[in-house]
Formats: sequence, structure tokens, C-alpha cells
Amino acid sequence: MMRARFQFLDVYLGDTLVGRLSKTGDIVQFLGDASYLENPHRPTFSLSYNSLDEITGDADTREIFTKSGTRWTRALGTVPAFFENLLPEGALLNWLANQRQVSTHDSFELLAATGQSLPGALVIQPSDIAHLGARLERHAAALEEGSRRDVLATPVAAPIEGAFSLAGQQMKLALSMVEKGQRYTLKTHAATGQEIVAKLPSFTRRDTVEVEYAGMRLAQLAHVNVPDFWLERTDTLDIDGIERLCPSGCFLAVARFDRVAGQAPIHIEDWCQVNGRRPKDKYGPESAYITALKAIHAYSPDQYDDAAQFFRRQVVNVMMGNTDAHLKNFSFIYPDGRYPRLSPAYDMAPVIAYLGTGLYALNEQVEKMYQNMTIDDFLRVAKAARFAPRAVEREIKQTLERIHEAWPAALKDLPISEDLRMKIQARIDGITLVKSACSARATQACAD
Ligand SMILES: Nc1ncnc2c1ncn2[C@@H]1O[C@H](COP(=O)(O)OP(=O)(O)O)[C@@H](O)[C@H]1O
Ligand SMILES: [Mg+2]
Repeated sequence: MMRARFQFLDVYLGDTLVGRLSKTGDIVQFLGDASYLENPHRPTFSLSYNSLDEITGDADTREIFTKSGTRWTRALGTVPAFFENLLPEGALLNWLANQRQVSTHDSFELLAATGQSLPGALVIQPSDIAHLGARLERHAAALEEGSRRDVLATPVAAPIEGAFSLAGQQMKLALSMVEKGQRYTLKTHAATGQEIVAKLPSFTRRDTVEVEYAGMRLAQLAHVNVPDFWLERTDTLDIDGIERLCPSGCFLAVARFDRVAGQAPIHIEDWCQVNGRRPKDKYGPESAYITALKAIHAYSPDQYDDAAQFFRRQVVNVMMGNTDAHLKNFSFIYPDGRYPRLSPAYDMAPVIAYLGTGLYALNEQVEKMYQNMTIDDFLRVAKAARFAPRAVEREIKQTLERIHEAWPAALKDLPISEDLRMKIQARIDGITLVKSACSARATQACAD
């Protein structure tokens, strides 16, 4: 009989072993480790795997982590959705695949290559195959519905020195800040400085850095909870060959909320992961946002604050024209290791700057929706997730008032084109959402 060959990767949350990914042929499966499942204080891995409902949920958690052949745990020709979401989609994906000399579709190898520097507290590394014991057969048996196979574990290549993975389309680097404004290095070369995401300008749209900086600033002025962010000179990057990656003299630095100086990494997961969706399905339906909001309602230790932040953020997205507010641009963070909070905001940019060329059909559709959205669209979502519509209505109106007060002056100073400035001002002056808020009840935003 031919021997079935398996490769294995251990999946850790900080120091806690959660389970293993195995690959045989085209099949990749994830199974939980017994030590994780037996631990009553186990940290939460994903709301798509863990049920946090102690009364009815524990059996579900165990079942999802141990049963192969479900869409959560097994995938053909790729990795289960949770894991695919740890990898980039665009320029960075090509760069990594090229470094590892594999196809951009070989997600298992790409996770093995970057597993030492992933989003949040996850660490993925080649398993010690000499000590797999019965776990090897368990992975094989799971694929054959119980019957035994003659199996062999084969090694996985070591991670690439200094490689990292961050999700998203844009080219970016995961860096450590040696000295703010002076020097940033790849993490392996530095001690334990605050880590940052360095978002590099695009080769085709050179002003992406300034446009995103403006978006983050507008969000901040509307009291969205954003991490520290700033424009930085490219010559502070202590990285070989940076000229080939970075077409202009500046990048956007964003302090990482999952890697704070002097603290252990904090687990995060994006809302594609929460919903078990793949990155390509990130422009999800309203129901996917409601699922995440329901999780906030059920499990967040500060559910009203998180919900207020969510609605505030969505108002800002409509008002600035951020048509890229998809499911991967929202995340949960697990400060206590177990219960989700809405993470600080990221990737808020007035993408309408690039519309009108016919290149971004999905974004054009979202923009059409934004142009027609009323306050009732927000309240419908709030109700579906069991948040009080009155409180949400108040939040929306307050946010519109803040925008009305703070944005017109700020727009004059931000490093954006006159065209974009006018487009955003036109929204402030009377996009449907503003009008609907005015007709619902008089606010400062519609007083003049
Ligand atoms: N400040 C941050 N702290 C931690 N993780 C972040 C931060 N900003 C972004 N990320 C993570 O990196 C990913 C890519 O960043 P994002 O700004 O969304 O880039 P892109 O424009 O390519 O989509 C996000 O999906 C998120 O998981
Ligand atoms: Mg993004």
C-alpha cells in the first residue's frame, strides 16, 4: 500500500498550543489539540470555532475543533478560511510567494514561511514530527472516516528569516520602531520597540499614503478610536532594496494595537474570520456585519461602547466615501484573551478619490449605496443585532454634528487634491444620510 505523506504545522496562541494544520496532497485540515480543549481557561481562538456561551456552547466548541470534513476545518487546494485570512492578497502576497518560491495559492507554505510574524498573537511553526505520536494517525483517520492508513510525516521548510504576514491588498511592512522619526527595522533586527504597520504608496496611485492619512485624521476628528498614525520619510527605513518597494519619499506609519511595546502580543481576528468567510468574499452582506454585532452584544465586556464605535465608524465611512469598509477592515481584539472587543479602526480612507474610472466596480456599487443610505438603514442593522435604535440614532446624530463642526476646516489643511476636498465637502453639505438625520429630528448638523 502507498504511504500517505503528511506535513504538519503547530498553531499557537501566544504560548498555548491550539491545534495543528496538516496537509496531504491537496487537502489541508485543522484539528484542535486535546490540551487546548481540556483547558477550561483556554484563550479564544476564533468566534467561528469557539462558542463563548458556557451554558449551551461548550459541546459546539469541542465538535468544531475535533471534527474534520466541516467547512471550518477542511479545505481542498487551500487552507481553511480562518487561516487564509492571515495572509495578504495583493502585492505583499506576490512578494512572499516569490521569496518562498511557491505559488500564491500555496497558503500552507506561505503560513509556514511567515508563521513567526502573523497578525495578533498567533504563531505557526513546523511541528516536531518525531513526537507527533498518535496525532499523526488521528489526522489521517479523520480523512478516511475512521479507517486506518499507512502514514508518514514529512518535514516542512523552516520559516523565512524576517518574513511577516499582514492581510490586505496594499504593500506594507511589519516593522519595529527603533526611534520614532529616525529608524524603523524589520522586527528580527530590533529589540522590543513598538511595532508599526508601514503602509507604502502604490506604484499606480502615488497619493494613497496622503489620502489614507487624511481619512484617518477625519475619522479621529469624528471621535473614532484610531491608533497613533503619522506620515514618515522613507529614508528612515533600514531595509535593503526599499527603493524597489517604495515609489515615493513617504509612507504611512500606524502603531500596531496587537503588538504594544513591553506587552505580550494580543490576539485579533477580522470579521471575515468571525464569519468563516474567505478574503475574496470580504464585501459581505449586511448579515455578516449583524453576526459580528450580535457577538459584540453577547460577549463584549463593553458592548455599548463597541456598538457606538461601530456606528460612528460607519457614519464616517459614508461621509468620507470610504467604499472599502469591508469585513477585513473590522477586527475583534481579545485584551483578556477570551472576550472580544471592537479593535481600534484602521484602513479608513476616502476611496472615492479613485472612483469614476470604471476600474473598481465593487467600490462603485458601494458608493451608490452610500449615496442613498438613510438613518433607517443604520437603525435596521442596530435592531437586528439587538441594540436600542434610540441610542444608535443619538450616536449617529452626534457624529454628524462633529463632522459638520470639524471637517470643513480640517479639509483645508489635509494633503489632498482640491477635487477630493470638494467631493467630501459636498457630502457634508447634503448627502442623503445628513438629510434623513435632519428630517428625523433637528440637529446642529442641519441648522444652517
Ligand atoms: N494598527 C494596526 N494594528 C494591528 N493590525 C493592523 C493595524 N492596521 C492594520 N492592521 C492589520 O493589517 C491588515 C492590513 O492593514 P490595512 O490597513 O487594512 O491594509 P490594506 O490597505 O492593504 O487593506 C488589516 O486587515 C489588519 O489585520
Ligand atoms: Mg484593509
